[in-house]
Amino acid sequence: MIQTENNNFILTTENTTYAFRVLPSGHLEHMYYGRKITLKNIDAVTEKHAFVPANSTQYSREFDHFCLEDLCLEFSSYGKGDIWEPSVEIVHSDGVRTCDFLFEKFEVTDTKPEYKMLPGSYDESGKYEHLCITLKDKFYNHRIELHYYVYSQCDVICRSVKFINGGNESVVLNRLMSAQLDFSDSGFTFTSFHGAWAREMQRSDALVTQGKFVSSTVAGVSSNRANPFVMLSREGATEDYGEVYGINLIYSSNHYEALEVTAYGKSRFVNGINPATFSYVVNPGEDFESPEAVLTYSHEGFNGMSQNMHHFVKNHIIRGEWKNKVRPVLLNSWEAAYFDINERKLVNLAKAGKDAGIELFVMDDGWFGERNDDHRSLGDWVVNKKKLPNGLEGLCKKINSLGLDFGIWVEPEMVNTDSNLYRAHPEWSIEIPGYEHTEGRNQRILDLTQTAVQDYIIESMSSVFSSANIAYVKWDMNRIFTDFYSQKLGAENQGEVAHRYVCGLYRCMKELVKRFPHILFEGCSAGGNRFDLGILSFFPQIWASDDTDAVCRAEIQNGYSYGYPMNTVSAHVSACPNHQTLRTTPLETRFNVSAFGVCGYECNLAEMKKDEVAAVKAQIELYKKWREVLQTGDFYRSRNFLTSNTTEWICVSKDKKKAVGFMMQKLVRPNTRYECFKAHGLDPDAEYHFYSFGMKYNIKNFGSLVNTVSPIHIKQDSLLEDIIAKFVKIDGETEDCLVNGDTLMYSGVKLKQAFAGTGLNEETRYYPDFGSRLYFMEC
Ligand code: DGJ
Repeated sequence: MIQTENNNFILTTENTTYAFRVLPSGHLEHMYYGRKITLKNIDAVTEKHAFVPANSTQYSREFDHFCLEDLCLEFSSYGKGDIWEPSVEIVHSDGVRTCDFLFEKFEVTDTKPEYKMLPGSYDESGKYEHLCITLKDKFYNHRIELHYYVYSQCDVICRSVKFINGGNESVVLNRLMSAQLDFSDSGFTFTSFHGAWAREMQRSDALVTQGKFVSSTVAGVSSNRANPFVMLSREGATEDYGEVYGINLIYSSNHYEALEVTAYGKSRFVNGINPATFSYVVNPGEDFESPEAVLTYSHEGFNGMSQNMHHFVKNHIIRGEWKNKVRPVLLNSWEAAYFDINERKLVNLAKAGKDAGIELFVMDDGWFGERNDDHRSLGDWVVNKKKLPNGLEGLCKKINSLGLDFGIWVEPEMVNTDSNLYRAHPEWSIEIPGYEHTEGRNQRILDLTQTAVQDYIIESMSSVFSSANIAYVKWDMNRIFTDFYSQKLGAENQGEVAHRYVCGLYRCMKELVKRFPHILFEGCSAGGNRFDLGILSFFPQIWASDDTDAVCRAEIQNGYSYGYPMNTVSAHVSACPNHQTLRTTPLETRFNVSAFGVCGYECNLAEMKKDEVAAVKAQIELYKKWREVLQTGDFYRSRNFLTSNTTEWICVSKDKKKAVGFMMQKLVRPNTRYECFKAHGLDPDAEYHFYSFGMKYNIKNFGSLVNTVSPIHIKQDSLLEDIIAKFVKIDGETEDCLVNGDTLMYSGVKLKQAFAGTGLNEETRYYPDFGSRLYFMEC
């Protein structure tokens, strides 16, 4: 709901209130954002200003009791006394940097105009709650539009900002933030998600009581170094209790999130395009639109906030045919064969996949040009006939005839200098002529600020995607930006390269998704180097990390889960020792972790041991039965490896009739027998059948200890042990009981004892290092 009486603007969602008003000076005072309140007495939530503090400035003679430095503002500009993080920075043609945007008018509509170059949130109904506030600069003729969109059911408010040059001269826009949240107090914990390749989404918490905390990147992509999703929480917030704000940006390039505490103990949060690498020339009559910011609040802890974000992303970001479709179980060739692929190998792998229950076979890198390693051929999207003599079509037909869909890997934004494309169009590459280029994975980035380059990508990809019956595309992007420079833009426009690039990328993605609506697109950037709401506005899922180690993945997926629903997080079961960590984890744990994302496989199933293939087959069968719950249900965190030896999650179907729980331990601590599984999100009054499937364990896992239960002596590592291991398995425990939702949620179910140096039998939970369980609940 949007209320606008007396120039007080109150935006209400099901559980939150966001309020600001016009001050007599024309500035917008931010009054409140948080738990839903009845705002009858506006005066109660406004700051009282009768005088300004010493050594600060009076805004004007007329408003000599206003000091912009000590106000909670809805949109701050630079130069009139507000010395904290500004929302806008402009250099006017006369060199003046001061600006002062004051309220002009407002409008409420039920429409949402599309951004010219950027993706944004949407509502399937086509009806919006939209408030537009127009501010006008006091001295120049420029305007700012603040656009608010209220998504009531998921407690989300989106905001974007438009700058309009209403003067006769060009200006340089050095900053235009998307959201600004001013609070009259401080003491927030700023949670951001940092990392690197194979180490994405590591949560870090910083208590900001003084100064400024910034999470940002200039990598040119949203990056694994600092994800644009961040959280602010008040003291004492836990997964289930306390006040948490979640903030994201629908953008895939350089971003900036800052929380600053002012001299007067107020806090200001801003997010938007990173001003460090940004300057945009806006000519008379032109405008510039910021990316859309996404804001949510919950007083039900981090889980409450995540629920809001998950519902928002599922309903108002993800689009297209795959929005509500369950995703297929795929087998990807990368970790099975890397660049060393050919038709025979691929078909063999696909056959093994088919036997195990795989639905979609994906050929990763290595299929085009002379692509035998990562040194050449990016840009030349022509099939390598030595590897695939029957072309893409021939291979695809063979895969399809096995009863599998066929998918392909591409990296359209890149070019190797050793490629026909680069030889023909060196000016299409982002690089500074005459400077030594800083290389990354031996490849350069195509200059998507140029329409001709966008057209090349659209046409070359269209020809690949239509050359065979392609059902899935993995769109990769394997380096960060350096030497930001477009050979086609003028000197004054070089500060626009990063932004223009990502807008060019969005045009390519939009067009290709429109041309190929049936294809399931998966974003990827060396794993999760570009995992953000911009990409998700076109592609419904993203390869979350090149790290497929189950322990790391549990941490990484836990990190993503704060801001992103798990059906956007692509997760594969891979071989052990793991290719990134050399760690060995149980096959069931690798599956259990993957099952909580979009589950796939990425290993050589054709060379796997028979019993492992049988286990994989059973996993896929189980996953197919439960994937609806896992992919579309509500996901909650309980414990995680940041603060515990256990990670514990649950996914609950929309109707609360089914749920899957996950529990995993990092390292065994001997003689810790007891565990309790605690659920979330169930119907407290319903009775659930709580159960697990008993596993069968290899006797070799128990070494010489097996002799304590074996009727004959089995020498470790002997032929006898091999033979017995083939036929005899040790039964693991099962859980099976009827229990009410309230008990499951508030008390939890006490599980069977774990092996504790003693007590090995089928009633014992065999729970080694990295052991895990899935628990099923049905009513
Ligand atoms: C990086 C991706 O993250 C991998 O999964 C794989 O597709 C390689 N690129 C291929 O070069």
